[in-house]
Amino acid sequence: MQSEHTHIHHHHVRQREVVVQLEAREAVWELAPGKRVKGWTYNGQVPGPTIEARVGDTVVVRLKNSLAEPTTIHWHGLRIPAAMDGTDVVQSPVAPGASFEYRFVVPDAGTFWYHSHTNETVQMERGLYGALIVRGDDEPVVDAERVLELDDVALNWTGDFASFSGTIQRHNGRQGDVLVVNGRADTELSVAAGQTERWRFVNASSARYVLLSLGGRSFSMIGGTGGLLEAPVKTTSALLPPGDRVDIAAGPFAEGDTFDIESLPYNRHAGRTKRNRFATVRVGAAKASRASIPERLRTIAPIAAANATPTRRVVLGEKLSLRHGMDFLINGESHHTDKPVMVGELQIWEVANTSHMDHPFHLHGFFFQVLSENGTPPAYRSWEDTINVPPKSSVVIAWLPDDRPGMWMYHCHILEHHAAGMMANFAVVRAPEDAAGMQAGMGHCHT
Ligand code: C2O
Ligand code: CU
Ligand code: CU
Repeated sequence: MQSEHTHIHHHHVRQREVVVQLEAREAVWELAPGKRVKGWTYNGQVPGPTIEARVGDTVVVRLKNSLAEPTTIHWHGLRIPAAMDGTDVVQSPVAPGASFEYRFVVPDAGTFWYHSHTNETVQMERGLYGALIVRGDDEPVVDAERVLELDDVALNWTGDFASFSGTIQRHNGRQGDVLVVNGRADTELSVAAGQTERWRFVNASSARYVLLSLGGRSFSMIGGTGGLLEAPVKTTSALLPPGDRVDIAAGPFAEGDTFDIESLPYNRHAGRTKRNRFATVRVGAAKASRASIPERLRTIAPIAAANATPTRRVVLGEKLSLRHGMDFLINGESHHTDKPVMVGELQIWEVANTSHMDHPFHLHGFFFQVLSENGTPPAYRSWEDTINVPPKSSVVIAWLPDDRPGMWMYHCHILEHHAAGMMANFAVVRAPEDAAGMQAGMGHCHT
């Protein structure tokens, strides 16, 4: 029976379409009982609906923009064609009242997410994000699965969204005092004793680093930003900078136990770093478990030697600015255009942070492997789309541009730093002469 089942999976050709209507519109977002703000939502809810698909499915999203300003959707972590990436260099933002259809095949299993990629410091703060889960054939068996989207909201004294307050927020990024899980500050989870669940965390906040803890209980990390790890990693905390995700195997817990999903103090060298509660977990009566997390989750073949020589250096920097207090830079320039990349040419990038605070580096559309951090290979191999780079340090990453030519980008996922210039567009080209045309077609970049 079991082998027959496996056999069918291996030869099954899927051509399923997952069709989703998303309307970006203002709606009441209830953060907690009686605590309401005017959110900008997908379909009236924050987070937006969780989109679920299987590897190989075609996802079709019909976006209708009922906001008063233009918007786009970026599919964070998905290896899809450039034209579907949702940035202002590949599409003109969808005007108020207009619609746009995103259509792409989802090639990889993992925990991904989608969010506005236009005026993000406002649109994402107000709620324009959601999760996108892709499942493969060989997922670990768990008793239950949950998607937990972490966010923080900054309110002013009237209880409305605080307006962007200039220099300090540009410098540190916007951190809010209302911490929410799946849009709610009063989230409580009930789990059964004796069971093991898969919790897929997404850090959707603008600037908050989450050093995730389950009240000190141990858990296993089983997935990163680019799908399953090779083997579970047992730990009591996991660092999630903005944009990052982690899948964990949580439990089994003991009946009657109660603990918080919380963020431990982390020094990102900007803003406050305290211990904060996101949600409370209560463990109820025991139930039978069918969970089995294999010791080997998958194999990830290395794409480059640990000491491969960098082909490019990307410097995350900062400089004082008369106009803004601070500009954030890539290779000395705010809103940089980086050199083109050739399809099929292995990229070894040294990402160096010369500034005095942490920055989460995010590459659109392609997974990378981390080869080293300050010269030391990472503890385990994984595919990633986001990596934290602490101050005065550098990471070397390797990635292979497959045949998806077009304009792509990378940036710091602290939204205010991205907006303040810590981003670059670059062309992925089949031939060197293709670059000029692509870059000429670039829209203007926001400041
Ligand atoms: Cu979540 Cu430009 O990215
Ligand atoms: Cu940054
Ligand atoms: Cu930009």
